[in-house]
Amino acid sequence: MKRILCLALALFLCAQGAFAAELTVGVCIYDNTDAFMSSMRLDLESYAQGKAKLIVYDSMNDQNLQNDQVDSLLRENVDALILNPADRMAAGYLIEKAKQRGIPVIFINREPMPEDLLLYEKAYYVGADASQSGRLSGEILADYFLSHPEADKNGDGTVQYVLLRGEPGHQDAELRTQYALKPLQSAGFRVEKLQEDTGMWQRQLAQDKMGTFLSAWGDRIECVICNNDEMALGAIDALKAAGYFTGSAYMPVVGVDATAPALEALQQGSLLGTVLNDGKNQAQAALDLAILLSRGETPTAQNFGYPITNGHFVWIPYRSVTREILSAQGGGT
Ligand code: GAL
Repeated sequence: MKRILCLALALFLCAQGAFAAELTVGVCIYDNTDAFMSSMRLDLESYAQGKAKLIVYDSMNDQNLQNDQVDSLLRENVDALILNPADRMAAGYLIEKAKQRGIPVIFINREPMPEDLLLYEKAYYVGADASQSGRLSGEILADYFLSHPEADKNGDGTVQYVLLRGEPGHQDAELRTQYALKPLQSAGFRVEKLQEDTGMWQRQLAQDKMGTFLSAWGDRIECVICNNDEMALGAIDALKAAGYFTGSAYMPVVGVDATAPALEALQQGSLLGTVLNDGKNQAQAALDLAILLSRGETPTAQNFGYPITNGHFVWIPYRSVTREILSAQGGGT
């Protein structure tokens, strides 16, 4: 009788999933010192609670190190990989490794070439459409110049700008740069680039570069376009050191990401606008997808919730963030 009861209890617990083997997902973050990615790592870790065990590596911006980390994750028999490559051109090589093991591989943040994703039916990219973030930051600027005619300081109908780019070759650096100017042009402004340089996504480097721009162009600069918030904050540091943001000395600066310090700068009035790079939903979608695929399920509108474009891409939308939008939402993104 006792044995029958034990067996019944075991069957009941099993049906409840209590004995279901926990999935293990291997994660590589390209560089944990990156402000946006370190926060996305936290989002992944907190969302994984109770869903999957994560093994997370910091690849320290070194693709060779990441390749070794992936080998070691495969030796640990992880059920899926979530990879943020240091070099997105390495995706094909990483996909091949996952394919040999038959496990899903989900790329985040750094978009692989479509031809690499096509190599394997369980290879996906969860990210955001870089051109959309460029366009949204340009719209914030266009609205500003339309509602502040005095912002065209020399009144020549042309917006003289400087630009701080992200890392060369990164889809977000290339497309944000390209698309940020279009809304200004559609609003009827001509645009003139005074100078651009890469700040490699970093605040300190951007501060130095902005210092150089200011020495060369001074008050001829009419706005500062930055591919991310860290660089926008660096530009603001340099502008503050040159006397901006006190009295009437103002400079419109836009970034992308909507990190916590950027939202503070927005509230204080130094950052004109940013664009939410929704790391939280990117992390959740990447993990949901990894779990579904490693259970052998097909992601659908019902069990996953996001459409899958061209069989391999999941797009999480960007959103504009300005002080007005924040206060309309009660302070949060
Ligand atoms: C971008 C983000 C940057 C930086 C970069 C790293 O999406 O806007 O701040 O984190 O990814 O790949």
